[in-house]
Amino acid sequence: MLPDDVRRLEAARAQWPLADGIDYLNHGSFGPAPLPVLEAQARWTAELQRNPMEFFVRRLDGLLDDAAERLARFVGCRGGDLAFVPNATVGMNIVADSLALTAGDEVLLNDHEYGAVLRIWRRRCDETGAKVVAARFPRPLTSPEEIVDRLFADVTPRTRMIVVSHITSPTAVVLPVEAICRRARDLGIPVSIDGPHAIAMRPVALRELGCDYYCASCHKWLSAPFGSGFLYVRGGAKAELRPPILSWGRSLCGRPSTWKDEFHWFGTYQPAAALAIPAAIEFLEAFGHGRFRELTHEMARAARNRLISELDAEPLTPDSPDWYGSMATLRLPWLVERSGHAGQPHPLQLSLATDSKIEIPIVEWGGDAHVRVSCHLYHTPDQIDRLIAALCDWRARTGA
Ligand SMILES: Cc1ncc(COP(=O)(O)O)c(C=O)c1O
Repeated sequence: MLPDDVRRLEAARAQWPLADGIDYLNHGSFGPAPLPVLEAQARWTAELQRNPMEFFVRRLDGLLDDAAERLARFVGCRGGDLAFVPNATVGMNIVADSLALTAGDEVLLNDHEYGAVLRIWRRRCDETGAKVVAARFPRPLTSPEEIVDRLFADVTPRTRMIVVSHITSPTAVVLPVEAICRRARDLGIPVSIDGPHAIAMRPVALRELGCDYYCASCHKWLSAPFGSGFLYVRGGAKAELRPPILSWGRSLCGRPSTWKDEFHWFGTYQPAAALAIPAAIEFLEAFGHGRFRELTHEMARAARNRLISELDAEPLTPDSPDWYGSMATLRLPWLVERSGHAGQPHPLQLSLATDSKIEIPIVEWGGDAHVRVSCHLYHTPDQIDRLIAALCDWRARTGA
């Protein structure tokens, strides 16, 4: 790391108002925002409170348009292609509820997908007589081509949608979404990408990527306020979308209707999180998006290497930024996976939080227990020292 990086990381770290005495290593689930972003959110809230009529009825559409334009430049599309939603989950629900499915149709996912996303699609398929197909990827993952081939081996003439994470939740793997979109396009199958981890962690160019839908949360790696997500929709599919909540379906400001109106006004709400997204983009831009990615990958890589050498952890992918970014998941072969405990934190996760003051997820996936470590600008090497020490201590105490 260059001396200039050390200085800049120290300055960046001072911007996160995290609790003292906690090693917060789970930016991947819930990414806290730095002060300039929280201040922007507070400014929007204050403006709203000064005159809600002016804010909601005369200004809101224009303000959301400006925020969408800024976000669109960052994710490589047009402002008109993006609607703000509270989070990726809402976005994926909209896509699922809008897809016309009939009995016998299939929706193709895979075994690395986020549990809630699987649930969304299972319900939609149950309602319509369609079925969810979950492709099984090789373990360990060694080649993007093999992933694409495994996925498309499960495509049939009844496949109506492919749902795939840009970066997976349990395993933190970057999936080859470009190749998946290309092949799906050739077959005329729409693709909905579950992308919350990729925003800021990877360069994202949505129009180039060619997916039909992209569901994201900006409150992960971009560190925008909680409740700031978006749904990208390509082309004419916008007209087919079904809002989860019905309100006026038109602009309160009286401007000509757009497809977003159904989503941007779902009754009175607090729009400050979405309006603060530009502040989050600018915060990372001031640091340098590229350098952010390189440095946080270096940190994740260092943590990964120590977990392998000191705790016999097993990586799920080759060691390359093509496979993982600022977050890495490793299998802990000596740790027991407890099937049937879905939703209950693993005892090791609880012990790390309460005894060692380390917030990190222990992920039970595919019959094995894993640790997933997230690295952002506010992390320091001594936090990884403490994680390694706490894991060694648990292993020694439990005789694992
Ligand atoms: C891959 C993936 N998809 C979707 C989500 C849901 O994100 P949110 O809770 O912001 O809707 C998560 C959250 O961790 C995730 O990791």
